[in-house]
Amino acid sequence: METLNVALFGFGTIGTGVAKLLFNHKDRIIRVTGKNVCLVKICDTNITGTRDVDVPRGVLTTDADSIFNDPNIHIGIELIGGLEPARTFVLRLLESGKDVITANKALLAQHGAELFNAARKYNRTIAFEASVCGGIPLLNALQTALQANSFQSITAIVNGTCNYILSQMESGKTAYKDAVAQAQKLGYAEADPAMDVNGTDSAQKLAILAQIAFGASADWQLIPRTGIEAVDAIDFRYAKELGYRIKLLAAAVRSTEGLELHVSPTLVKADNPLAKVRDAFNAVRAVGDAVGPVFFQGLGAGQMPTASAVVGDIIDTVLGRTAITFRTLNLWKTEQAAVLKSPNEFFGKSYLRFKVEDQPGVMHEITGILGKQNISIASMIQHEPDEESPHDDAVLILTTHECREGGLLTAIETLESLPAVLGKVVRLRVQR
Ligand code: HSE
Repeated sequence: METLNVALFGFGTIGTGVAKLLFNHKDRIIRVTGKNVCLVKICDTNITGTRDVDVPRGVLTTDADSIFNDPNIHIGIELIGGLEPARTFVLRLLESGKDVITANKALLAQHGAELFNAARKYNRTIAFEASVCGGIPLLNALQTALQANSFQSITAIVNGTCNYILSQMESGKTAYKDAVAQAQKLGYAEADPAMDVNGTDSAQKLAILAQIAFGASADWQLIPRTGIEAVDAIDFRYAKELGYRIKLLAAAVRSTEGLELHVSPTLVKADNPLAKVRDAFNAVRAVGDAVGPVFFQGLGAGQMPTASAVVGDIIDTVLGRTAITFRTLNLWKTEQAAVLKSPNEFFGKSYLRFKVEDQPGVMHEITGILGKQNISIASMIQHEPDEESPHDDAVLILTTHECREGGLLTAIETLESLPAVLGKVVRLRVQR
């Protein structure tokens, strides 16, 4: 039987999961590939820490060069995360004639063009199923079974940590801070969980989805993004009163004016399947012109779901399937097939929460400012004061009909400058 040697960079949560599958379930890999796929090196700066997998003697190393310089290693798996040294290591793997597998969305969102051009130059491949939505075979489906479609929209929960935190907060059992700590403990969160909760991770994944589904090269840093930090327990109560739940959604919507990309906490109708996706689950609703709507759901974070995608990529690479997809899709190549819409021209509904002085004329002032920007109010809630809320200020909730983003942002700025508006206006999107 032919032997194919694999090396792994990064022996953290996901790396350990990959090692478990490769060492403990070798039979499965042999059965589907017909080849002896061997994990011969695991490289990390820390090789003395305890992991719950038995590693054969001689496999652990801190010497990355010994992998680049070994012509008998055929595939390199990058699970270090972050930009450097991951970028350099991927380039060195490609240069030294090895195919690459990565789960690193930050790296692809930032350096996709450079890395894919290098892979083409050296006639190698990069597989990256685990980079978006962990265990869900999403990229594979978009790139192969659904390739006959022109996509109209993708609306997705792509960050397991945020979905977990929002689910915990919604249930009323856990406060925000405790939920973040729990997500870290469960191995869902990034090394720096700020990347999860401030929407960065979702924007990076959305940039990758925009590339795959729409052929659009979007700078992830320019994708308007709002995280979940400003979402408060009371927002869940008001959302429920209005018939919604709150989810951090990454959305790509194509219209005649271009592609709209954004990440935002969003009110989703309670009967929408996305609203029912809880805990670390991710979900994606893609609408193609031929297939119509399709819905994917699965675990988007955590050790074994992500390892499942990485090892799936190893098998595809060994079998030559990755090479076909890589060659035919020409990702991160040149021309941008979709025009990106300017954020000011986005069009949609919003939910606004204000704290205001409970005085005569305040509502009149607020509605006047919104009216001036051609924003029509769809609903309004102000509860009578009770013991919990003092009488001299009130929480006001407004939802808008569809309006232009530019006008809304101007209105919010003006509202925040009013003496009667206390503090920041919290704005969430409302799913169309
Ligand atoms: N921190 C990420 C998440 C891990 O919570 O979804 C998977 O990319």
